[in-house]
Amino acid sequence: MDLSTGRPRDTWGSKAAFVLAAAGSAVGLGNIWGFPTVAGQNGGAAFLLIYLAAVALIGAPVMLAELIVGRRTQRNPVGAFKDLAPGSVWVVVGGLGVFTGIIILSFYSVIAGWTLSYIFKTITGTFVAGVDTEAIYNELAGSAVPAISWHLLFIMITIYVVLGGVRDGIERWTKVLMPVLFALLVLLAIRAVTLSGAEAGLAFYLKPDFSKVTGAVILSAIGQAFFSLSLGMGAMITYGSYVSKRDDLVSSAAWVTFADTTIAILAGLIIFPTLFHAGLEPGAGGPGMVFVVLTSLLSSIPPAPYGGVIFGTGFFMLLGIAALTSSVSLLEVVTSWAVDERGMSRRKAAISLGAVAFLIGVPSALANGAVSWLTNLPGIGMDFLSFLFMLFGQYSLVIGALLISLFVGWVWGVKAAGEEVRENDGEFPLGRTWGFLIRFVAPSAIVAILVKMVVDLV
Ligand code: PFF
Repeated sequence: MDLSTGRPRDTWGSKAAFVLAAAGSAVGLGNIWGFPTVAGQNGGAAFLLIYLAAVALIGAPVMLAELIVGRRTQRNPVGAFKDLAPGSVWVVVGGLGVFTGIIILSFYSVIAGWTLSYIFKTITGTFVAGVDTEAIYNELAGSAVPAISWHLLFIMITIYVVLGGVRDGIERWTKVLMPVLFALLVLLAIRAVTLSGAEAGLAFYLKPDFSKVTGAVILSAIGQAFFSLSLGMGAMITYGSYVSKRDDLVSSAAWVTFADTTIAILAGLIIFPTLFHAGLEPGAGGPGMVFVVLTSLLSSIPPAPYGGVIFGTGFFMLLGIAALTSSVSLLEVVTSWAVDERGMSRRKAAISLGAVAFLIGVPSALANGAVSWLTNLPGIGMDFLSFLFMLFGQYSLVIGALLISLFVGWVWGVKAAGEEVRENDGEFPLGRTWGFLIRFVAPSAIVAILVKMVVDLV
């Protein structure tokens, strides 16, 4: 029941619409920018194999757990824990998720804002031979007014989509955007693998060298899997809350995981051949990789200058679309909390919380050269945006996913969860396997990643 209107809760129009929207949440800057960067820094093909194992053994089970909690309770993350464990401290997990959502949205929108700006830069033919792409990046990211303006525009578009509600907003947009995104990626990958020198990139990406595998590589693969799959802050609880009881959760979770992973793999197929084509180091990551390195390659794509304009505009449009369907899910988590728990109207909630995310994002927009102490935080040694990303994009999601797996595996219980899964047709394919993974494998692997983070800090 929607408290603000007294009507039954909105649901997705169809299972396909839900799978597309959840995949839209998962696929974003994390896949297209983050995955190739982390894979490049961690040995390429060996990282890819470990990432796939982490997705299958930890990511997919946690995804199903979040969707089950969402569909069972039909609530936002805070309401969901209140419902399943009334009067207990578990509600804090939901609260942490909502808080994390608004913080991630704040800096995610800053990076997505750069992406919007790059659509216009590429379409107007900025990246011709000999242009200094690093200077162009620094000028945008390091100037207060453009950085804040693009961030504002991106937040406004996000609010606009969320305002439409589940049926009219999120669903209508993602239904169109996700297939377009996929098609664009396939085209770009075909172009990339046919560049001269692409074979070396493909070998780096697809021929594993296991001598490069360390504990750190394994743990960074797990961390990347959570951020990429939108797990650990209740985004999938929220999206699951709009799933009708008729729909099958297990295959939905499998499809979302499959789509997210396919897009990350495709992104690697675009980035690595392109990097090797230009004779660049795959480990040279950071925010510069997509925005500096890739644009430096655009002018070399034949026929000049049209190849670069088409390739580049396509790439940044795709990155912007992917970021939008993710940011929409971040704002939706927070909005559904305000609507369910605070009785706000959807309109008021989306606009006011979007405005809060915008304001929190302002220091992140100023942290890439515009304001020097934000660019290099005293005593911390990194910029404000990277610091928020570390705290909320990594630590908070990992802790959230650990608590969710413990809650579902041991507190609420796999038996109750199984009953919810069987609501539609009485079946729970791979139910025993899932129970084992969510009770034992996921929590112990996450504890390992946390220990690693603490050890790194000391
Ligand atoms: N999964 C998104 C990406 O890969 O860019 C980021 C994200 C969205 C993380 C929503 C967490 C979340 F709840």
